[in-house]
Amino acid sequence: MPNKTSIANAGAQPRAALDPLRRRLLGGAAAAAVLWRGSAALAQGARVAEPFTRRLPLPALLSGKPQVDGSLGYALRMGAGSSELVAGLRTPTWGYNGSVLGPALRIPRGRVVSIDLRNALNQAATTHWHGAHVPGDQDGGPQSFLDPGQTQHYRFSLDQPGATLWYHPHTDCLTGPQVWAGLAGLLLVDDGVDRQLGLPHRWGVDDLPLVLQDRRIGADGRLQYMTGEIDRMGMKGDRFLVNGCEQPYVDVPAQWIRLRLLNGSNARVYNIALADSRPFHVIASDAGLLPRPVPLHSLLMVPAERYEILLDCRGLQGKTLTLRSDSGDIVPELSMLPQLADRFDRGSFDLLQLRVGAPTATSGRLPPRLVDIAALYSATPARKFSMQGMASDPRPSPMAAQCSQAPGPGGMSMGLHGMDMFSINHAFMDIWVINQTVKLGATEIWQIRNDAQMMHPFHVHSTSFRIVDRGGLPLPEQERGWKDVVMVRPGETVRVIARFDQPAGKNHPFMYHCHILEHEDNGMMGQFTVS
Ligand code: C2O
Ligand code: CU
Ligand code: CU
Repeated sequence: MPNKTSIANAGAQPRAALDPLRRRLLGGAAAAAVLWRGSAALAQGARVAEPFTRRLPLPALLSGKPQVDGSLGYALRMGAGSSELVAGLRTPTWGYNGSVLGPALRIPRGRVVSIDLRNALNQAATTHWHGAHVPGDQDGGPQSFLDPGQTQHYRFSLDQPGATLWYHPHTDCLTGPQVWAGLAGLLLVDDGVDRQLGLPHRWGVDDLPLVLQDRRIGADGRLQYMTGEIDRMGMKGDRFLVNGCEQPYVDVPAQWIRLRLLNGSNARVYNIALADSRPFHVIASDAGLLPRPVPLHSLLMVPAERYEILLDCRGLQGKTLTLRSDSGDIVPELSMLPQLADRFDRGSFDLLQLRVGAPTATSGRLPPRLVDIAALYSATPARKFSMQGMASDPRPSPMAAQCSQAPGPGGMSMGLHGMDMFSINHAFMDIWVINQTVKLGATEIWQIRNDAQMMHPFHVHSTSFRIVDRGGLPLPEQERGWKDVVMVRPGETVRVIARFDQPAGKNHPFMYHCHILEHEDNGMMGQFTVS
């Protein structure tokens, strides 16, 4: 029997209680015991239904309502509801403008937008525009928290290439559980270049958004968060959802199909592939189109990464394709701790079935070239970051006491409520400390070294970067475009280059952090101003 209650209440435990835990987690000899506890928890979960029986939900596309002041208006409301994440079971969830996830906000490049964000939850929360180039006070970071019942007004314009960005809570100590509860949505920057290039762009027809997430769900339908000790290293589930629906199917026409993939998971890594190993073409990374399509058979995606791929369904009418993760080839090697790879990481699992039907009258194409990306140069020495794994004596962070103790949907545990466990430059996130100061307009190289034993996806707010190198090795082609998240393997040093054009003062600084949400919530984040 896994000891659920002691883990769920671990936030209140004195730090001494965590020392034996750390020894058990990190000690190789105890790996089997930890694994056994994990699988016992799985056995109590919701029954597994036949795959591919339900249709892929399509997020609503909001294009904004023209306002008297000339801006485009959008409204988002964070609230509670109930969803059928897995067939035949009601799950209490949170969502934006609905019971789970949220609408896709389509924002034309350069247009002023105004977004009314309302908090109808039982606890404070924020919403961050991940990947958006906006000033610090519009970024929705931990300082911008909204109490229950409050509405916050955002106003900005995005001068950046067309891209698939996203939004999600960024509440101090609570980002992981609030996202796990269902809060996340897509934000599409639209500059028209995809249409000019002839890329597929009809929403829900040949342009499909796919939010990939894993969840753990009890037999009673409730979401389970942090129910095992291993979950402290990053919360993973055994049920695989696309757009909030377990293993759905989608009808697609027999032509070029564009899939906008978001790894919206807290900690899960996917190695995206088609079950018959057919190739596909990567056309965009996190923050924009690539110079040219990159043909691949599999595509690694760490948390918060986005990739857009084009799939050639011409002549396939009547066939079905299965999108899945072939994790076993690559995911276990991302960590030096074998106990961190679960049975899904060691194998493969299905995500979505595509049923190919008749082509439509007009179809998109795969152009041989996409966009030119101007190079960035920096003359200043690199700013250096290092990432450390689990601390030897984790204790509650200074913010822990102020963090809401209200439960999640259906009484879901909200995890550890902020422990100082993972660090950057040997410092734990402290909302009162500015860790870096950057000059407005500067182009900088950030050098990120991973001193820990597991992979950490590093994310920077306010800008997009390009990867300069990865331990001096040549970069895979799909990593050569605009990005805002970069995977850093254990022992690896990655350099990225970015221009910092958005201002942020000390009241609303920007964040840099690991995007494994349980790491971010438990220390692995820092703050920077730009002025
Ligand atoms: Cu996806 Cu700091 O965020
Ligand atoms: Cu972000
Ligand atoms: Cu991490």
